[in-house]
Amino acid sequence: MSTLIKNGRIITASDDYVADIFIQGEKVAAIGQNLPVQADRTIDAAGKYVIPGGIDVHTHMDLPFGGTFASDDFETGTIAAAFGGTTTIIDFAVQYKGQAMQQALDTWLQKAEGKAAIDFGLHLILTELPDEALPQMDEMVRQGVSSFKLFTAYPGVFMVDDATIYKALQRTGENGGFICMHAENGSVIDLMVRRMLAEGKTAPKYHALSRPATAEGEATHRVIALAEMAGVPIYIVHVSSHLAMEQIREARDRGLPAYGETCPQYLFLSYDNYEEPGFDGAKYVCSPPIREKSNQEHLWQALAVDDLQAVSTDHCPFCFKEGRGPYPAQKVLGLNDFSKIPNGVPGVENRLHLLYNGGVLQRGWSMNRFVQLTSTAPAKLFGLFPRKGTIAVGSDADVVIWDPQARWTISAATHHMRVDYNPYEGMEVQGKAAQVFSRGRLVVEGDRFLAKPGDGQFLKRGTHAL
Ligand code: URP
Ligand code: ZN
Ligand code: ZN
Repeated sequence: MSTLIKNGRIITASDDYVADIFIQGEKVAAIGQNLPVQADRTIDAAGKYVIPGGIDVHTHMDLPFGGTFASDDFETGTIAAAFGGTTTIIDFAVQYKGQAMQQALDTWLQKAEGKAAIDFGLHLILTELPDEALPQMDEMVRQGVSSFKLFTAYPGVFMVDDATIYKALQRTGENGGFICMHAENGSVIDLMVRRMLAEGKTAPKYHALSRPATAEGEATHRVIALAEMAGVPIYIVHVSSHLAMEQIREARDRGLPAYGETCPQYLFLSYDNYEEPGFDGAKYVCSPPIREKSNQEHLWQALAVDDLQAVSTDHCPFCFKEGRGPYPAQKVLGLNDFSKIPNGVPGVENRLHLLYNGGVLQRGWSMNRFVQLTSTAPAKLFGLFPRKGTIAVGSDADVVIWDPQARWTISAATHHMRVDYNPYEGMEVQGKAAQVFSRGRLVVEGDRFLAKPGDGQFLKRGTHAL
């Protein structure tokens, strides 16, 4: 199958020009003006942007959490991603205590098998790392799982100590892996949570009040120091606060290879959402929590000047009230105890919409910056470039035709994520994916999904480079 996309304004992280793109099979075969080719299908993209498919490097499909599972699985979640113009996700396989890393990887590959509608990679979450398991890290990198997430939070579940983090960091200096850190001071937070509950403070807002930004700033500072001692790069996931971002900026100013992502919830929502009436604040319970509004502009600015390098979603949806698909209401698990509210918010479908509006339309970002943050930098950081993350001859034909004029309203009534609410409900936005190609296949056209679950491939990733 071949496709000719004519007259589109092609945007990469560095280029911006009008030309035709010829896609043959899974790859971009030619780019030029008035290409003299015959294609099976021709699309006129005049007046539209043609951008590389989005890459969301932080999703949790089907994640077991707090006695339930994230309500999107690899099928529903990747279809929703595609509707939003994202053609690659990197999800997280969890190595539980006592498990071999291979077991974790196999479990998550099985979850995705026959379901993923777009290409996907996997990071590995490490919950322990005895010395004898270190060679397993090398084996994961060899199999294309070249990044690992460790936590300084969630004691008793995911949290590891500093020595374990240091050991993992050091090993990546030998095997080319890359460490991603969830940075919050879990021990202190645990104490604050128990104290609040003992005082009868059970409402959703206490989730945020028991996880102060200082606990994130401290842990971010600490893990960057560990990476500095180990002499390796580090990536801080879901940066939520000005304070945590400042730790990354300061390290980068000293020349250290410290990187960070933030997520739409930290750019568009605020602590005020936790104060919504009744139990509604539970919709926004995620970790780190959403901060005071004053943090937002610092994060936007950090994205503009490369103090933060990527925007992911940390997509981890749990149903709120009516339930959707096989899932009943899930956030209600914490109706009488905020610490039992499953942590996470949906977002994989709306990342590009939100960033286009908040970044390009409202803050005057170039389209190049938008592409850099949503596709190119994620591809480079996580070993997918130049196969993914750009539009170039020889790259995978993961291409989005973006209609910059489309005006519409975000709503759970029309979104494709398998969750019964949308944190951005009612937001009027401009810009939408008109057509989406994944390795040359037209997977989305307007409101129609044209691919089939299972078409997505597991991506064996290389090592990071930025
Ligand atoms: O609240 C969140 N972020 N849930 C997903 C797990 C994680 O820590 O990323
Ligand atoms: Zn996390
Ligand atoms: Zn996460």
